[in-house]
Amino acid sequence: MNTDNSLAVIDLGGQYCHLISRRLRDLNVWSDIFDSDAAPAALEGYAGVILSGGPRSVYDEDAPTVDPKILELGVPVLGICYGHQLLAKMLGGEVRPGAMEYGPAFLSVLKKEDLFEGARPAIKVWMSHTDNVTRLPKGVKALARTERCENAAYGDVDRKFYGVQFHPEVVHSEFGADLLTNFARRICRVRSKEEIRNQVEHLVEMIKERVGKDSVFFFVSGGVDSTVAFALCARALPKERLLGVYVDTGLMRKGETEEFQLMLSTLGLAERLRVRDESRRFLTALAGVDEPEEKRRTIGRLFVDVQREAMQEYEVDEDHWLLGQGTIYPDTIESGGKTGKAALIKTHHNRCKEIRRLMEKGRVIEPLTEFYKDEVRHLGEALGIDRRLTQRWPFPGPGLAVRCLCNKGEESTAQHLKLPRRYSDYEAVTLPIRAVGVQGDARTYRQVIAIRGFLDYGELQDIGTMLCNNDKLHNRVIYLVSARFPDFVKARTKKDVFVDHSRLSMLREADFIARELMEEQGLMESVWQFPVVLIPLSLANGESIVLRPVNSQDGMTANFARLHESVLKEIGKRILVRIPAVDAVFLDTTDKPPATIEWE
Ligand code: XMP
Repeated sequence: MNTDNSLAVIDLGGQYCHLISRRLRDLNVWSDIFDSDAAPAALEGYAGVILSGGPRSVYDEDAPTVDPKILELGVPVLGICYGHQLLAKMLGGEVRPGAMEYGPAFLSVLKKEDLFEGARPAIKVWMSHTDNVTRLPKGVKALARTERCENAAYGDVDRKFYGVQFHPEVVHSEFGADLLTNFARRICRVRSKEEIRNQVEHLVEMIKERVGKDSVFFFVSGGVDSTVAFALCARALPKERLLGVYVDTGLMRKGETEEFQLMLSTLGLAERLRVRDESRRFLTALAGVDEPEEKRRTIGRLFVDVQREAMQEYEVDEDHWLLGQGTIYPDTIESGGKTGKAALIKTHHNRCKEIRRLMEKGRVIEPLTEFYKDEVRHLGEALGIDRRLTQRWPFPGPGLAVRCLCNKGEESTAQHLKLPRRYSDYEAVTLPIRAVGVQGDARTYRQVIAIRGFLDYGELQDIGTMLCNNDKLHNRVIYLVSARFPDFVKARTKKDVFVDHSRLSMLREADFIARELMEEQGLMESVWQFPVVLIPLSLANGESIVLRPVNSQDGMTANFARLHESVLKEIGKRILVRIPAVDAVFLDTTDKPPATIEWE
C-alpha cells in the first residue's frame, strides 16, 4: 500500500482507538493502527500520526509511551486525550491530576484557524479525563480551553504538533469530524485521487501566471516526476516557449529512450523534446573506473558539462528562460524542508548550488513541490500519460552504471563458510565480492555471502540476519536460483572488468528479461522496485546476475520481495538460455538494512 495519503494511528490503550480509524474512513482518509511499541521506521511514509487516548496516567509506571524518534519523522502529530497529555510531556510540558471532566464540556476556541479552521467560538465536546496538561511545552500555544481545563487544545504550527483533550472521534463532539478533516487534509495534506486529478487546471493557471512572457527549459529524465512537470507546462504554454532535453547517457535500460520518445509523441509533445545521444562520452569517461563513488562522481561531472553545452547550443539564457524541474514534496523535505527546520538528510540534485542561485533569482519553476509521489502519478494519469510510465519502478539517475559492478586487479576465489548445524541443508560461501550496505545508520562496504539449497524464504531470512549480525564482515546474502555450472568451489572474481559496452548489453538484456516476465505475469505493481545487477563473479568463464526485487514505501527501508519460486526459476532459465556469458543467476535475500536496495 502507498502510505503517502494515509495516517498512522498509534493505539495507547484507548477504547476509542478503532473509532478514530473508522471516523477517518468516513472522511475518506485511510489509516493504519499500530501498537505503541511501533518502530519509527514502520511509520515512515505516513502523512501524519495520531496518538490515541488511553486509560493510564502518563506518570504510571507501566504507562504506554512511544519512541521519541516518531516526533522526528517530520510529519504532523495529533494527540487525543491521553495522547494529548503524552505528547505534551514528551515535548517538555507538564501533566498533573486536576479538574476532571466526564461527558459534555463547552470549549472556547481561542484560535479559529489551522486545526480549528471553520469552528464556531464555542463548541460542545466530549471529555473523559482526570489528568490535565498544566504547563505547555516551549513554542506550543493554547488553541482552546474549557472552564475546567485551561489547555484543552494546543498546537505548534511550525512543527505541526497538536493535542486535544477531548475526543473528536465520538459523534457527541461537535466539530469532531471537521477537526479530524482539518488535521488530515489541511495539516497532513492527505487528498483523494479525484481531488488530485482535479488539480490539473489549477496548476496550469498557476504555471501561466508564474511564467508570464518567459519560456521554460527542462532536462527530462524519462522518469515520472520530470515527465509530469513537463507535460503540465506543455498544457500551459505555447509550444515555442517550452523546450525539453533528454540526455541519453547510454546507461538506460533496453528500449527506454525509444519508449519515452514514443510516449511523448502520443501526448503530442515530441516537437518540444530534443534527445542528445551522449553515450560514447559517458562510456569513455567510465573506462577503467571501478570504485562505486568514483563512478557516480564521473557521471555527475559529465552530466553537468553536457547540460551546460546543451543550454548554450539551444541559446537558453537565464534572462528569458526559467528552469523547470520535477521536484516533489519529499525532495524538499530531504533537502532541509521549506521552513529549513527539517534535518538535512541529503542534498537532492535538484537543489545543487547553481540551482539554488537560480531559485534566489526567481528563475526556477517547480509545479510539483506540493505533491507526494502517488499524487504525481494521479496527476500524470489525468494528463493522459501511460500507466507504464506513471507506475514505473524508480531508476537511479546514474542508471545501469550503478548496477554494473566492476573489479580492478587480481582474481580471488570464494571461501567455504560453515553454517550452524540446523542449516545443514544449505551450502554457503563467502564471495570475493563486496557490496554497499547500510548498518547502524552508516554506509558499509562488505563481503557478500552466497547460499545454495531449497527455497524457503523464512529460513533464508533467518540465515541472512544471523550471518550479517554475527560479524562485521558481511552485509548481504544471495541465493542461487539457476546456474549453468552450479559449483561454488570454482567461484572467483573476474579480473579487470569495468563498465563497458559488452557488459552493459548483458545487464540490459537480463534486466529486460526480468521485466518481461513480470509484465507477462501481471506482477509489475506487486513489487516496489526490481534492480537487476551484474557482478563479476565467474563459476566457469562468464559472470553472474543478481535479481533484487524489493518492497518499500519510500526507499529508506525495504524488504526483499518474496517472488513465487516458479517466477524466479523462469527468469533464471531465460537469462541462462538467452545470455550465454551468464554463468549463474542469484536472488538477493537481504533487507535494507543491512543491505541497500542498489548494489553499486
Ligand atoms: P539505496 O541503494 O540507497 O537506494 O537503498 C534507495 C533508493 O534510491 C534510488 N537511488 C537513486 N535515485 N539518483 C536517483 O534518482 C541516484 O543517484 C540514486 N541512487 C539510488 C534507488 O534506486 C532506490 O530506489
